[in-house]
Amino acid sequence: MPLYSAKVMDHFRNPRNVGSIENADGVGEVGNAVCGDIMKIYLKIDDDIITDVKFETFGCGSAIASSSMATEMIKGKPVSEVLQLTNKAVTEALDGLPAHKLHCSVLAEEAIKAAIEDYQAKHKQ
Ligand code: FES
Repeated sequence: MPLYSAKVMDHFRNPRNVGSIENADGVGEVGNAVCGDIMKIYLKIDDDIITDVKFETFGCGSAIASSSMATEMIKGKPVSEVLQLTNKAVTEALDGLPAHKLHCSVLAEEAIKAAIEDYQAKHKQ
């Protein structure tokens, strides 16, 4: 068995939704203290639906693949549903990650949640 699934390799070599969004409705940045990797997520939200999402990462290949997959999974979804997204769901969609790389998928989940919190904080009346 190769260490990384074909899906991980595909999203690593060909990441979806890389970049930033000008005037994003929510921005979230998180880091992992152990490996030092950083993940930043930008969201465009209309009527509580994620209409666009981009990510920038200073992270490893698994972090790139996880964020790429996670951004595809949340596009077009309501905020309430996106808040339920777990790194487990992202990892499953990638057909698995090696155990010592699971924390990389947590980075994507946490950055998305941080971006939603940023959005909600800005939109509180
Ligand atoms: Fe740090 Fe993967 S090793 S995010």
